[in-house]
Amino acid sequence: MGLLEGRTAVVTGAARGIGLEIARTFIDSGARVVIGDIDDEAGAAAVTELGGEDAARYVNCDVRDGAAIEHLIDVAEEAFGPLGVFVNNAGVTRDATMRTMTEEQFDDIIAIHLKGTWNGTRAAAGRMREHGGGAIVNVSSISGKVGLKGQTNYSAAKAGIIGLTKAAAKEVAFKNVRINAIQPGLIRTAMTLAMPQHVWDEKMAEIPLGRAGEPSEVAQVVLFLASDMSSYMTGTVLEITGGRHI
Ligand SMILES: NC(=O)c1ccc[n+]([C@@H]2O[C@H](COP(=O)([O-])OP(=O)(O)OC[C@H]3O[C@@H](n4cnc5c(N)ncnc54)[C@H](O)[C@@H]3O)[C@@H](O)[C@H]2O)c1
Repeated sequence: MGLLEGRTAVVTGAARGIGLEIARTFIDSGARVVIGDIDDEAGAAAVTELGGEDAARYVNCDVRDGAAIEHLIDVAEEAFGPLGVFVNNAGVTRDATMRTMTEEQFDDIIAIHLKGTWNGTRAAAGRMREHGGGAIVNVSSISGKVGLKGQTNYSAAKAGIIGLTKAAAKEVAFKNVRINAIQPGLIRTAMTLAMPQHVWDEKMAEIPLGRAGEPSEVAQVVLFLASDMSSYMTGTVLEITGGRHI
């Protein structure tokens, strides 16, 4: 039996990158997964890669829109049964120093990461409490713990996700809904490979394990938090950083 045998999981931003790897890991562990993303082409390709519609579905869903998230969960429950796991993973970066960052760049990041995670957490917890429980995993970042230059928007949003995770965990624990967060460090995805080489090199120098992480190494921790292996954990934050910023 897999750790998520028979469960219905939703992962936002899973058309590629860390989210896609989380979806793959969940399916390998017995779950069926619905991907919510805004990249329709990548979403369709992801479903094929994950084994077709018996294992995975794709729904166009902008996490900034609470009604779109409700629809995403409706599709998941109609296709695969009551929601058991929800991962708030969707995200982008709009890096710039405060001197050059526009209000739009700030607002975008707060809307996608912080409001998006609130939308997902609220909607998923609402369903799970009716089903007798479930697990929500929120993807923060080490940037939300230590604050990184050029990321006043992203650090603020990712730190906000921690407060949101803890407050929400306290509200729904009595209904057996667990909500935990992860803080990845430098993980090898399209998001980080787009960085200038000198920024990549500076980050590498700070990592005690001496290498970037792989999306699969994040997915394994998310699987732990999504499964009954972590049944006595809620409101916690796990760092996946190779020891960076401990
Ligand atoms: N890569 C890293 O080093 C790293 C480190 C810490 C945290 N994170 C976080 O992990 C998560 C995944 O990052 P990644 O590196 O896989 O990025 P990625 O760019 O490879 O994938 C992000 C996905 O989110 C989707 N997305 C963007 N905006 C969306 C929206 N409004 N609604 C729905 N989907 C949307 C994109 O289409 C894409 O498929 C993000 O929350 C990111 O902040 C990444």
